[in-house]
Amino acid sequence: MNILLLGSGGREHALAWKIAQSKRTDKLFVAPGNAGTASVAQNVAISAEDFDAIGDFVLKNAIDMVVVGPEAPLVAGIADYFKQNAKLQKVAVIGPSKYGAQLEGSKEFAKQFMLRHQIPTAAYKAFNREQVEDGIAFLRTLKAPYVLKADGLAAGKGVLILDNLAEAERELREMLGGMFGDASSTVVIEEFLSGIECSVFALTDGKDYVLLPEAKDYKRIGEGDKGLNTGGMGSISPVSFADETFMKKVEERIVRPTIAGLHAEKIDYKGFVFFGLIKVGNDPYVIEYNARMGDPETESVMLRLENDLVELFEATVGGTLSQQVIRKDPRYAVSVMLVSGGYPEHYEKGKVIRGLDQVQGSVVFHAGTALKDGQVVTSGGRVMTVSSYGATKDEALRQSFENAKKISYEGMYFRRDIGFDLK
Ligand code: AMP
Ligand code: GLY
Repeated sequence: MNILLLGSGGREHALAWKIAQSKRTDKLFVAPGNAGTASVAQNVAISAEDFDAIGDFVLKNAIDMVVVGPEAPLVAGIADYFKQNAKLQKVAVIGPSKYGAQLEGSKEFAKQFMLRHQIPTAAYKAFNREQVEDGIAFLRTLKAPYVLKADGLAAGKGVLILDNLAEAERELREMLGGMFGDASSTVVIEEFLSGIECSVFALTDGKDYVLLPEAKDYKRIGEGDKGLNTGGMGSISPVSFADETFMKKVEERIVRPTIAGLHAEKIDYKGFVFFGLIKVGNDPYVIEYNARMGDPETESVMLRLENDLVELFEATVGGTLSQQVIRKDPRYAVSVMLVSGGYPEHYEKGKVIRGLDQVQGSVVFHAGTALKDGQVVTSGGRVMTVSSYGATKDEALRQSFENAKKISYEGMYFRRDIGFDLK
């Protein structure tokens, strides 16, 4: 079949790499893609959010399946756009409806959903622009640290964790005053949970699900998890503390009630559910849902997934996921993100990347790269992952670090302590 994948990051290169290996794939296009996706698929210069252009391309190129990588087109309703257009209705879309994508698009929606289905998560209250003083009064009843979350999508920057009440009150006023535009016209204030985090991924047909390998990501720019938040500096799978006992709790208390809740509420959801979890004591809690795969988790998860991904997608669309059994590579997979100097603050683009042809025994997944005059150049803060297998975590990491050293561009930086907090 002919497949169109939407997006342009490392997640999309990893998905494209996996889709391209499927015997079910005839032609694979990526819109807009990057220099890496161009090596396994054909890039198309269309934005992942330009639905009319995507629809046109799908019709002209006899596309059978559209796989949606990032959240923005999902939250903007791309699945509904296809459903509502007579000519596009038959095209399979991997990704939830606009309503279902609210699990990621609205923190308050996600919280209410979890409350309705008794899914463990931090206690919370939500406040809108007319309720600033109520929000302040609520903050005063809580203990530090204070967790404030913009309700809507805020490019990963909408969560503030503050140690001091006066600061929390000031930030709440600013958020409700429009700090993140409409995304913070409602703010969720929640209980702080203390523990170690991991990411669990389900693919669901709206009734049944399969679980993909779990992973842990490293969000801070600095080693030892210090410094500013980034889009993600690396990932590792498996996650040592997500053992059988823990994962049994995750499935029973979180995954199953979530999928059953979607089904019971007749929410049209055929796609990925990303459970951002935190282990408090020995129990899992949901920090957040996402309606897509994680980045840079996907770069490690795709390495360990042995199934044909397109067959899983076909089962998702056909409602037959209950017949699928996930097979995981028993090895470790790690992804080390190479970033631009200065990221996540100011950084320069257009730096020529050298040494990619020297890499051996790792897979390089491009994120912020572009082709310019036949050369691969940087075009974003997160540039690429060096992803490797290993019989142990350390062996996989050693492989990635060795190959990372062969790659060079002005200002290149990466964390050398991915997995430091895992056994
Ligand atoms: P998010 O942007 O929703 O992924 O949140 C960013 C990060 O904030 C999460 O990965 C957690 O590390 C942290 N966080 C969010 N909610 C809480 C909470 N209730 N308690 C402790 N940490 C939290
Ligand atoms: N790695 C976290 C995310 O994709 O949101």
